[in-house]
Amino acid sequence: MYLSDQFTNKHFLITGASSGIGQQTAWDLGNTGAWLTLLGRDLGKLEETKKQIGTTNPLHVISGELQDPNFLDELTSSIEPIDGLVLSAGIIDYTPAKMINSQKIRKIFEINFDANVLLIQALLKKKKIKDGASIVVISSISSKLGVAGTGLYAASKAAITAYAKVLATELSGKKIRVNIIHPGIVKTNLIDDQGIVDQENMKKIELSYPLGFGSTGDVSNQILYLLSDLSTWVTGSEFIIDGGHTITR
Ligand SMILES: NC(=O)c1ccc[n+]([C@@H]2O[C@H](COP(=O)([O-])OP(=O)(O)OC[C@H]3O[C@@H](n4cnc5c(N)ncnc54)[C@H](OP(=O)(O)O)[C@@H]3O)[C@@H](O)[C@H]2O)c1
Repeated sequence: MYLSDQFTNKHFLITGASSGIGQQTAWDLGNTGAWLTLLGRDLGKLEETKKQIGTTNPLHVISGELQDPNFLDELTSSIEPIDGLVLSAGIIDYTPAKMINSQKIRKIFEINFDANVLLIQALLKKKKIKDGASIVVISSISSKLGVAGTGLYAASKAAITAYAKVLATELSGKKIRVNIIHPGIVKTNLIDDQGIVDQENMKKIELSYPLGFGSTGDVSNQILYLLSDLSTWVTGSEFIIDGGHTITR
């Protein structure tokens, strides 16, 4: 059984497909002949992502804010049933404990937790997740570490991780699998746009990664494995992909 043969004519929904890990997954899956629905906020970036996929299969792009209930309703009503779901949309936050306020808590949980839970709820209710499908949640090693300033981000990722494990049990009767990936640092807009960690410090942090920082492809490879039939006995599992960073801490 080869990974590249796995996805022909299967339909996958990828959130966060306009950038970083989600975009890479869209390219890698799309180029295997899968049928994709790509979701993000920026329509222009989604169209760009789509352009770089060489397939004759349908590729739909849909832009909106995942935390908007009307958008969620429209998406989950119109989408064709899916064989797999990749939850890559997410935001980051660096706020030390004494600077946290309720708006900051709401903002990060709304996207990293609530939106994912409500998306899955609506897809299930509308019978849009096929039996035997695979759901991949992109969490973070931050949820396992104690890096100063990452409290809200880490907590939102720990929450979605805990939720995903319960979901794996609830959906096992339909052979729907749910797995969690915890990437370490991968240079994407998520990291670059923050501008909080300067180049000098980034170099120091990279030294704590025995294999250096990762690429989006490193994470996408694991996502494709978990979406494929090569992992049909894998559910409720957590995968740390961080070039060895956590073993050095
Ligand atoms: N990069 C890392 O080092 C790293 C490490 C661990 C975990 N992760 C996790 O991996 C996932 C992907 O991160 P990334 O590095 O690929 O980030 P990225 O390049 O910033 O991409 C984030 C994606 O999420 C979408 N998005 C954000 N808020 C949204 C909203 N409210 N509604 C709909 N879409 C929304 C963005 O859409 P637009 O581009 O259209 O705005 C974009 O497509 C995230 O969950 C992140 O927490 C990343």
